[in-house]
Amino acid sequence: MKVFITRRIPQEGMKILSQAGVCKVSLWDSDEPVPRAELLKGVEGAHGLLCLLSDKIDTEVLEAAGPNLKVISTLSVGFDHMAMDEIKKRGVRVGYTPDVLTDATAELTVALLLATARRLPEGVVEVKNGGWSTWKPLWLCGYGLSGSTVGVIGLGRIGMAIARRLKPFGVKRLLYSGRTAKSYAAEVEGEYVPLDMLVSESDFVVVSCALTPETQGLCNKDFFSKMKNTAVFINTSRGAVVNQEDLYQALSSGQIACAGLDVTTPEPLPTDHPLLTLKNCVVLPHIGSATYSTRGIMAELSANNLLAGLQGTDMPSELKF
Ligand code: NDP
Ligand code: DGY
Repeated sequence: MKVFITRRIPQEGMKILSQAGVCKVSLWDSDEPVPRAELLKGVEGAHGLLCLLSDKIDTEVLEAAGPNLKVISTLSVGFDHMAMDEIKKRGVRVGYTPDVLTDATAELTVALLLATARRLPEGVVEVKNGGWSTWKPLWLCGYGLSGSTVGVIGLGRIGMAIARRLKPFGVKRLLYSGRTAKSYAAEVEGEYVPLDMLVSESDFVVVSCALTPETQGLCNKDFFSKMKNTAVFINTSRGAVVNQEDLYQALSSGQIACAGLDVTTPEPLPTDHPLLTLKNCVVLPHIGSATYSTRGIMAELSANNLLAGLQGTDMPSELKF
């Protein structure tokens, strides 16, 4: 069977595929994204596709693949880059990588939150450029977690892992919003509240929901206008959950204190983007799951998902949709 892989991936995944001996792999052998024309060509007649979150898997790609296609395995837990309705119509199975990246992403979210709230990037720059003249009582002050209210939008796998990690910092109240209340929230004494209440009462607002038609643009002008002027906004979900023009206004006008983003629209964020001119905005290049071990395990899981899809057996992590 023929398999197309859209990027160089960790060896752990490649090894599994070559040892299985059930498919002929062709690979876009680069760290850079496959050009659209090459993706359409590469997928032609494929039985399996192993893709990344940066590959748009839409009708055109599915048509180019044709009727052989049995399985799409994405090296991500997010699946907003795939046209799920079209995939379902064609009876193609989908594998993804939940759980294995939860800890790494939650850790990165906490790191980003602390870096943003305590102004670490600004401090590092001041040390290097001579701005550090002496210890100053009013200089580079930020916001602490102790005694604070944290609001998590989307208390799923990652949201819960973030909550677990933040609670020991002395967080007083943990609010969360989403479509349904979660019984497991009791572990972090989480209070299920309407979004408006979460936004207006939180000192830290952390976005960890999936990108869906309902969450697209959720964090907009109205949303930021309800936040406290001293509040910290963190997004490690998907860039499109945020209206970036509205975020820029909120940050530059002092409507909110600061923001930390691991995800943006587009990715990469152009280097002349207005958000990058702001000292109170910390932007990372989508590195939530980027530990050596996590990426290796993600590659293994996506290879095993792919093989199961090709062979018609149970996948370790099949997306049910
Ligand atoms: P889960 O499916 O476990 O959690 C997603 C959460 O989104 C659910 O709790 C769901 O709540 C919530 N949600 C859905 N719709 C809404 C809504 N309208 N309002 C509020 N919440 C909503 O996924 P994970 O926790 O594993 O991953 C979450 C996302 O994180 C991924 O989809 C991906 O986009 C992103 N991600 C980013 C990474 C990075 O590198 N920065 C790394 C990994 C993931 P409910 O259950 O109530 O429907
Ligand atoms: C995902 O898996 O959805 C992340 O964005 C990358 O690990």
